[in-house]
Amino acid sequence: MCGIVGYIGYRDAYPIIIKGLQRLEYRGYDSAGIALFDGENINLSKTKGKVDDLKKKAQASMSLKGSLGIGHTRWATHGAPNDKNSHPHYSNSGDLVIIHNGIIENYDAIKKELVNRGYTFSSETDTEVLVNLIEEVKLKENVKLGKAVQIALNQVVGAYAIAVIDRQKPDEIVVAKLGSPLAIGVGENEFFVASDASPFIEFTNNAIYLEDEEMAIIRLGKEIKLRKIKDDSIAYPSIQELQLNLEEIEKGGFDHFMLKEIYEQPRAILDTYRGRLLAKEGIIRMAGIDQNLEKFLNANRIIIVACGTSWHAGLVAEYIFEDLARIPVEVEYASEFRYRNPVVTDKDVLIAISQSGETADTLAAIKLAKEKGAFVFGVCNVVGSSIARETDAGAYTHAGPEIGVASTKAFTTQITVLTLMALKLAQAKGVFDRSRFHEYLTELEQIPAKVEEALLTNPLVEIISNVYKDSTNCLYLGRGYNFPVALEGALKLKEISYIHAEGYPAAEMKHGPIALIDEHMPVVVIATSKGHYEKIVSNIQEIKSRKGKIIAVVTQGDVQVRELADHVIEVPETLENLTPLLTTIPLQLLSYHIAVMRGCNVDQPRNLAKSVTVE
Ligand code: F6R
Repeated sequence: MCGIVGYIGYRDAYPIIIKGLQRLEYRGYDSAGIALFDGENINLSKTKGKVDDLKKKAQASMSLKGSLGIGHTRWATHGAPNDKNSHPHYSNSGDLVIIHNGIIENYDAIKKELVNRGYTFSSETDTEVLVNLIEEVKLKENVKLGKAVQIALNQVVGAYAIAVIDRQKPDEIVVAKLGSPLAIGVGENEFFVASDASPFIEFTNNAIYLEDEEMAIIRLGKEIKLRKIKDDSIAYPSIQELQLNLEEIEKGGFDHFMLKEIYEQPRAILDTYRGRLLAKEGIIRMAGIDQNLEKFLNANRIIIVACGTSWHAGLVAEYIFEDLARIPVEVEYASEFRYRNPVVTDKDVLIAISQSGETADTLAAIKLAKEKGAFVFGVCNVVGSSIARETDAGAYTHAGPEIGVASTKAFTTQITVLTLMALKLAQAKGVFDRSRFHEYLTELEQIPAKVEEALLTNPLVEIISNVYKDSTNCLYLGRGYNFPVALEGALKLKEISYIHAEGYPAAEMKHGPIALIDEHMPVVVIATSKGHYEKIVSNIQEIKSRKGKIIAVVTQGDVQVRELADHVIEVPETLENLTPLLTTIPLQLLSYHIAVMRGCNVDQPRNLAKSVTVE
């Protein structure tokens, strides 16, 4: 993971890099560092902790002069998070300085060779090995920085987005990419480098996204030169105009990005179906499906691959595709799929779901499926991300930037896109009559307003959170469409409040988890009126008779569950297939409030990162 930022131009680099790192902290936040070239020396400061800690340390300990600099926010892979292992890293001569996002897998063998040649290392990182390998090549072959980077990268195995500066080259940054994202912002007489475009959005709308195995020599006053790392051949940059705006990546009056993003869901869902759902005309327009309709209609099955919350959205999609479009679906963890020699043929369609579009395991699963001839469709949020580019076709969720590490609006917008896809295929297959199709489209149009209503439960959810904030365990139960919601609710709680939580299909409770239930166990039950209501009422009775504390999410007007549950949270009525879009809202709020009450860092929970670019 990790976030990287670089600047070269006429402004002070320090504030640009610090602000950029803060925007990239979603990628990792266990340590941070900055290096600034003052025209003579490259000064460096780095520390365990967050970018705010770095700011304090840098301001107290180094010259902040310089219009050329690089910075890093880390999610540790090789070596514990401490000052020494933080980036940037100097080479042995002190001339070269590097920042790196990714993993160099053969770093140990390279390190041994470098040690034999007299190199010393002050950190345990693979990155310090890489910068010294570049230095060794530069000195031995007597080449310039760009060439040395290119030769060195041909000797490494792994993934990287790197930026390297050289004390002998006061007007140059060399960057390269394989497997980890890297964007170059192109301004007037200035350039920016970053893991995504957010660090430079207020300075320029023009960006170049490097492709895998490309590198660039960025030199002031010159056009950017792109080269293929393998053979040094020239590649031609395409400059893209960015759609991002500054307000979208700031908190907008909310205490946390997570809360802001929970509240953005009505708008995000609307943006997801805007221009696609034409209820009056009875049409769903999705170019990615229209152009590849035969592939979907002739598919033996759909395989969905994803991780984490996106995998939960995939589970909801499995129910929807099978129920509405009658297409068989399998949902796989990308990390398992890619390593288990799966049977995939050119008659399969693979749908990859990813908010970031950078998740390493999902990307690898896509590559595997493509090799086996499957047609690969991506459902991503981040425009121009690696997964969006790697897939044969796709549909963006248009949720806007999701900065809080815990996914919220990504989940509901993914379900929205996948529902549109299932409906479109159902219509194309002729398994839906007109009136049923129309009923779905009209109801989907109501969802943003119903999510607004579900958000009104916030004060009640806050009160309930206060009752259970000190729990050590929590069970989440749901049936049918709300089983994945139970999984998602449990994931949200554990990842931001560090309370152990499990999601289960409600009927499975009897096969083990019921043993855990006593008067100290809160059990969140999703018990909406449509879909197995009587069955779930029986499950609630089973919990009640074992003295479990019941927090029930029910449909407005519910009577039966209200009599049994300790707390009842009402959401509006909708079609059964669409209930996850509403029932998930109070569960997001519950985990948010509990985490805040426990004093946890909601937007940056420990050990996590927003974009998981390591496998
Ligand atoms: C949980 C969460 C993660 C992500 C997972 C996949 O709140 O955010 O579980 O869902 O890391 O990430 P994407 O969707 O970017 O592939």
